[in-house]
Amino acid sequence: MIIKPKVRGFVCVTAHPAGCAAHVGEWISHVKSKGTLPNGPRKVLVIGASTGYGLASRVTAAFGSGAATLGIFYERPSEEGRTATPGWYNSIGFTRAAHAAGLYAKNLNGDAFSREIKAQALETIRKDLGQVDLVIYSLASPRRTHPATGAVHKSVLKPIGAPYTNKTVDTDKGIVSTVTIEPASEQEMADTIAVMGGEDWELWMNALAEAKLLAPGAQSVAYSYIGPEVTWAIYKNGTIGLAKNDLERAARNIDSLLKLNGGGRAFISVNKALVTQASSAIPVVPLYISILYKIMKAAGTHEGCIEQMQRLFAGQLYGASGPRFDEAGRVRVDDLEMRGEVQAAVAGIWPGVTTENLEALTDIAGYRSEFLKLFGFGLKGIDYEADSEPHMPML
Ligand code: NAI
Repeated sequence: MIIKPKVRGFVCVTAHPAGCAAHVGEWISHVKSKGTLPNGPRKVLVIGASTGYGLASRVTAAFGSGAATLGIFYERPSEEGRTATPGWYNSIGFTRAAHAAGLYAKNLNGDAFSREIKAQALETIRKDLGQVDLVIYSLASPRRTHPATGAVHKSVLKPIGAPYTNKTVDTDKGIVSTVTIEPASEQEMADTIAVMGGEDWELWMNALAEAKLLAPGAQSVAYSYIGPEVTWAIYKNGTIGLAKNDLERAARNIDSLLKLNGGGRAFISVNKALVTQASSAIPVVPLYISILYKIMKAAGTHEGCIEQMQRLFAGQLYGASGPRFDEAGRVRVDDLEMRGEVQAAVAGIWPGVTTENLEALTDIAGYRSEFLKLFGFGLKGIDYEADSEPHMPML
């Protein structure tokens, strides 16, 4: 099968197996180029391990510290005439590279919110690893079936209290328009907290603790975003922000749990806005990212997922002086994004962006090429005209 990108709105419905493996290979090379992490993690559970920040965390643990990794994700395999999702191919690419380097790497593809996948993960850790010393929680999901009630909660990206109007861009068509998003209902707020809040992270950590599968001093990290005022109504002060507040609540509980387990800790790392499958679905944010990339590339401070996670591990989690916390107890690797001069430059460009000057004023070209890379397209050394085998069993 010759596999080409087929973009439909904010998703690409095809993925290239060799391209995805090459993308993971680039991340591995970056981590290796930064050298070994002294006192890094040894045995790591990554929940949400197949794309974005979770995959970058897994690559950093494995190739920066020689860690054994168990990855949990929810990806769709190929079907007749249809490629698998990129996370499927990324995970195969990662696992092959890890095995070739002599590292333990296993995968569980299924619903991390379910009791079944938790039970399978616990059993795999018990049998293969004994205990884990790091748990990364990096799920981004549109829905969650609650394990106790069976209710299906759907998350929404909406403002709270009042409608929100701002600029947005159709990244595929390059059209800048004004979008108005109606405020969320009480039910939608509760549903978004149920999906993207901290309850499931706590369920994971409590289950691991009860089964005595956490090594003394084990740590756990989940990811959040704050961003500039222009996105607050839809992010920080919107439904997803409510869920992130709940994630912070969970971090405090899990931190107490881990402190009692040999002096471990849990915290939230606030990461940079980046092109991922999750962020491309948020209104307004892709336009912000396109401007941000332009400014940060010009300043030489641009980072992608892998640079962010390598810096989190080397400079904070396993840094010589340990993590540095902000006033709310969070680690900030969004520091370069949030610099005053960067945000002032974004704010200067934002009001003037139109469909006509989008290419000139923003890095929409960089956004698009990053987006296609998520699906394995545009990688150096890949022959996209060649026949490609889309059906690959998970390793
Ligand atoms: P992503 O869409 O690239 O990755 C999501 C991961 O979750 C994938 O591995 C997917 O398979 C897995 N997943 C989703 N539903 C699942 C389920 N039911 N069971 C098992 N696995 C499931 O997302 P991204 O952007 O890396 O987000 C990860 C975290 O980072 C989220 O908490 C997000 O809010 C946060 N974050 C993202 C930023 C961004 O700009 N992309 C910025 C700062 C934080």
